[in-house]
Amino acid sequence: MDEKISPARRVSGRIRLPGDKSISHRYAILGAIAEGPSRIHNYSTGADCRSTLGCVRALGVQVEEQGTEVVIHGKGLDGLRAPQSSLDAGNSGSTIRMLSGVLAAQPFSSCIHGDESLSRRPMDRIMKPLAQMGAAIAAREGRFPPLEITPSQLRPIEYLLPVPSAQVKTAILLAGLYADGMTVVEEPVRSRDHSEIALREFGAGLKVEKRRISLQGRPRLAGRELRAPSDLSSAAFFLAAALLTPSSSLVIEGVGLNPTRAALLDFLISMGASIRVLNLDQANGEMVGDIQVSSAPLRGGVIEGEMTAALIDEIPVLAVLGAASEDGLAIRDASELRIKETDRIATVAENFRRMGVAVEVQPDGMVIPGRSQFRAARLDSFGDHRIAMAFTVAALRADGESVIENAESASISFPEFFRTLHQVIEP
Ligand code: S3P
Repeated sequence: MDEKISPARRVSGRIRLPGDKSISHRYAILGAIAEGPSRIHNYSTGADCRSTLGCVRALGVQVEEQGTEVVIHGKGLDGLRAPQSSLDAGNSGSTIRMLSGVLAAQPFSSCIHGDESLSRRPMDRIMKPLAQMGAAIAAREGRFPPLEITPSQLRPIEYLLPVPSAQVKTAILLAGLYADGMTVVEEPVRSRDHSEIALREFGAGLKVEKRRISLQGRPRLAGRELRAPSDLSSAAFFLAAALLTPSSSLVIEGVGLNPTRAALLDFLISMGASIRVLNLDQANGEMVGDIQVSSAPLRGGVIEGEMTAALIDEIPVLAVLGAASEDGLAIRDASELRIKETDRIATVAENFRRMGVAVEVQPDGMVIPGRSQFRAARLDSFGDHRIAMAFTVAALRADGESVIENAESASISFPEFFRTLHQVIEP
């Protein structure tokens, strides 16, 4: 599907966004292996989180959906049933990686696969620690989906993550629920901690000391009532649109502001963004608040080291802001970008090339020149939701009408993206 985007004169209004994708996945998986029903309000509407619900259903768990409210009738740690066919994770790296931790501990065999993009993404990062726990997982060429998982008894391990990845951390912790004793994961850099928070909410015993997480195996998890906050990673596109468009002012309500995610706001403020957080509160252990943003001239900056890990999903849209900023943006230590839904260094650079912005591409990053003029162009999502949305934002300040090809991929995390955008832009 092509989406035509015209330059915007102003971005304004008050919006609330669908539930956080990362948190929704975790609530669905933990809800399935908890005892009794979990009611999740504002569950993510994205296709990725539907994939997780599909897998959970295929494992014998009843799931009721009423709009964005989802009720999961949890079966307890030992209540899942062998699926009739291969589980379909769709486009979702979180689904396949996190759920594998649970599947590895089941007394039945299973297979889990994904779409073309997911089939190219590496799974050895979860296979290695899970194998150390005793799991039996076979993959295509030893590292790509589909994954064939055969039953095994898991034992606890202590594992130092070689890459900062919350998905890998979560796969180990979920497997650790099934191992007798203490599973310990240590991270090189603090990654998003939604799993730690959600595990506690469901009743697991968990100790966190700096970057070291210890989980007691075989807890009793109890179903809960939970609310997913508006997704900060989805909010990022609206923050960027408002920052880039003169005379704009926007409020985004009820956004998840977990400190392991909110580095985005700090970075935007370091670029000169005018951002205020209002009505800060806590829900289910997660920080939540309203974000007020107004357009502002932006300085450039550098994203590197721990900052890269903290901003990894937001880099495509930060690249767009960087190109419009005074001094441009350098992105370093970002080889992880190459193994996301697309190679995001390549897809960002290609769309910029089409808009007349020459980006210097490096193996693990890119250098984006500032004060760039965006030429209207035919842009492509390349099937990647964050590329679709980031370059829609770029198109808002191009010199004419642009087209986003394969724009439907935005629905992987945010099906209402274009509708919501049209609510807040004045053409
Ligand atoms: C996620 C972790 C990150 C992120 C992804 C969601 C999660 O991936 O890019 O969109 O929910 O844990 P990695 O764990 O591969 O860094």
